[in-house]
Amino acid sequence: MSRLTNDIDAINTAVAQNITALAASVLSMGGILVAMFLLDWRLALVSLVVVPITLWFTSFVARYTRTGFEQLQRHLGELNGVMEETLSGQKVISAFRRNETVVAAFRERNAEVYRAGIYANTYALLLMPLTTVLGNFFVIVIAAFGGFLALQGYVSVGLIAAFINYAQNFVNPVRQLANLYNTVQAALAGAERVFEIIDTAPEPEDAPDATAPDTIRGEVRFEHVDFSYNPGTPVIRDMSLEAEAGKTIALVGPTGAGKTTIINLLSRFYEVDGGVIAVDGTDIRDIRKDFLRRRLGIVLQDMFLFSTSVMDNIRYGRINASDEEVYRAAKIADADHFIRQLPQGYGTVLSERAGNLSQGQRQLLAIARAVIGDPNILILDEATSSVDTRTEVRIQKALLRLMQGRTSFVIAHRLSTIRDADCVLVIQGGQIVERGTHQELLDRRGVYYRLYISQFKGQEI
Ligand SMILES: Nc1ncnc2c1ncn2[C@@H]1O[C@H](COP(=O)(O)OP(=O)(O)O)[C@@H](O)[C@H]1O
Ligand SMILES: [Mg+2]
Repeated sequence: MSRLTNDIDAINTAVAQNITALAASVLSMGGILVAMFLLDWRLALVSLVVVPITLWFTSFVARYTRTGFEQLQRHLGELNGVMEETLSGQKVISAFRRNETVVAAFRERNAEVYRAGIYANTYALLLMPLTTVLGNFFVIVIAAFGGFLALQGYVSVGLIAAFINYAQNFVNPVRQLANLYNTVQAALAGAERVFEIIDTAPEPEDAPDATAPDTIRGEVRFEHVDFSYNPGTPVIRDMSLEAEAGKTIALVGPTGAGKTTIINLLSRFYEVDGGVIAVDGTDIRDIRKDFLRRRLGIVLQDMFLFSTSVMDNIRYGRINASDEEVYRAAKIADADHFIRQLPQGYGTVLSERAGNLSQGQRQLLAIARAVIGDPNILILDEATSSVDTRTEVRIQKALLRLMQGRTSFVIAHRLSTIRDADCVLVIQGGQIVERGTHQELLDRRGVYYRLYISQFKGQEI
């Protein structure tokens, strides 16, 4: 964020303030130079000496301002980062009594920005006085050399007076150009950081011949899929699975097994390293990404809600949905009732991160959002794991309504969802170690059976 605001601002200032100055300086420098040569070529040649000296001063100072401003922008970015994190993690900070640590960290970063600012600007502001001294010195040289020429009878005293006037006017644009160079250095320090962002490889583009079929049935197939977030540490290994259209697949397994990763791959947030993921028999790399995602409905454990109205948050699932459709979706998600009790009903504006709703309510909104998109493939990643049992029952029912007729991938810790699934996949270490229905897996007395004994037994719902 700092790069996109502070750094771009620095570039903006440099460009906006200096483009006109640049044109004016170059023009007047050229004009005055011509005039000086017309008046007296010897004095004009002496005048030119001022240019390399100024250049030397400028490049000397610019070296320091450049690094100074680089540091300043970097520290400013870090300071912003600390502030952002502190504000959004404010509750955790208070809960763990880290307020003072956080304040100290802020002070430290702030002091770094202060120091870097002093350093950079000291050098930046050094240039102007230096070149002023240089300019005055230059006038002395012209007067002395001119005086010598006048005594020899080469030029008149009047010409020297005129020349000194020109000389002063010549130095000014040179100084301005030097200063401009200096400012541009500061801007470049920011530009480098901005370009790093611009050069970041975006999500891989769709293939030019990617398709967007009218409808999809929702059959999903993984064929020997390999994947790793970081090369060298495989997360998914040679995984093959098949989900017929409309069926429910439950994914169970210990934390870190790779369940969420499977979802990430199916949504194409990451690309597979090997193997193929196909929807309706088409490799998902050959399906347009926006289309694929429109056909996917995702409900996560903690779904992000925006600080707009409840209405807009639900409509996020399909931007052109009518009000009526939003109400209907909310009813299916069992959210309509509580929404109507909010101060402004559907117009109630959520606070940041929806802090004015309970977790269960947030979850119901997230479900309504998925409902309105009318997806063919539904993904539920621990959608009910952070709410109380009674809310969970409600959410569970809402989810069941949502899952009807759609291919559903459910990562769940609830026995009921798993029991009703058409197929249960037990994931361990990035591989499917067991597959079958709940009953089949129980009868096998393997990994699932042990998981069932330790985790699910005794769950009524
Ligand atoms: N963005 C990521 N970058 C690197 N490693 C990751 C990332 N996300 C998850 N992992 C690693 O991949 C493995 C599987 O994670 P995940 O699929 O989230 O497990 P879970 O089954 O609990 O959903 C874990 O070891 C985790 O550390
Ligand atoms: Mg997970």
